[in-house]
Amino acid sequence: MAPSHAALDSAARAHRIDGRAIARSLDEETAAAVRAIVARDGAPPGLAVVLVGEDPASEVYVGRKIEACLRVGILSFEHRLPAQTTQDALLTLIARLNADPTIHGILVQVPLPPHIDEGMVLSAIDPAKDVDGFHPVNVGRLSTGTGGLVPCTPLGVMMLLDSVIDDMKGMDAVVIGKSNIVGKPIAMLLLEREATVTVTHIETRGLPDIVRKADIVVAAAGAPRLVKGFWVKEGAVIIDVGITRMPGEGGKARLVGDVAFDEVQHARAVTPVPGGVGPMTIACLLANTVKAAQMRNAQKK
Ligand code: GUN
Repeated sequence: MAPSHAALDSAARAHRIDGRAIARSLDEETAAAVRAIVARDGAPPGLAVVLVGEDPASEVYVGRKIEACLRVGILSFEHRLPAQTTQDALLTLIARLNADPTIHGILVQVPLPPHIDEGMVLSAIDPAKDVDGFHPVNVGRLSTGTGGLVPCTPLGVMMLLDSVIDDMKGMDAVVIGKSNIVGKPIAMLLLEREATVTVTHIETRGLPDIVRKADIVVAAAGAPRLVKGFWVKEGAVIIDVGITRMPGEGGKARLVGDVAFDEVQHARAVTPVPGGVGPMTIACLLANTVKAAQMRNAQKK
């Protein structure tokens, strides 16, 4: 678990937030919730994972998601479709999954091949089964603070922040990155906690000066080592969402974050890459699948 805040203050180096450990403890809670659902309904929650085409990175991500389901007892149903699958065929599959009572969550891995309209496909998923939180109904619920399913990486970022910050009320938070699936939802979640949120991006003028004022920095620009030591205020908490694959020693790829980790040791706490946000994303997908199953059960009452 996270050390006490007093221990953090006296540490010479920034506390390294251990995403792997926090994801493991979330997985234990998810596995316990799955067991409770099995005891009640006689069957575990089901997650349908749809992959169109052979994008190598997507294959790896989907493989990890399926493995993770097995670990916590969620039933996964893999649908691997060829790259030339038509949009109509994909929409037909989604309609079938929407109507299937054994499926509680549906995930369509993106990016989709260019001939398929991603927005149309994601909007076709039943919002109650949208465990990615990408459907416009869930985006709207998040922005109005009215529940729904929240995108997995932003949810994981908030849990990492919660491991070191008791109350974000009034804190200055800067989000670097404005993507629909990471930057914007994180900004909404921080606002819900009454942080004062500035959303920036790679084109923002005077970015170092803006970041230097922040108590919380969430870097999600996909720009390796963008955030330098001199950008960061003493005692800030930094969450690094960036994962860029770079050539490493011996021809092996290495993952590089958006933050110059070695330069920010005057921060209060920082997430490493790898081992920070990454493990949380999958753990939150599993948690969202359980949440979808629990919401369905609550409706049946
Ligand atoms: N592609 C990259 N990240 C994600 C994700 O979180 N969900 C889906 N569906 N596709 C992705």
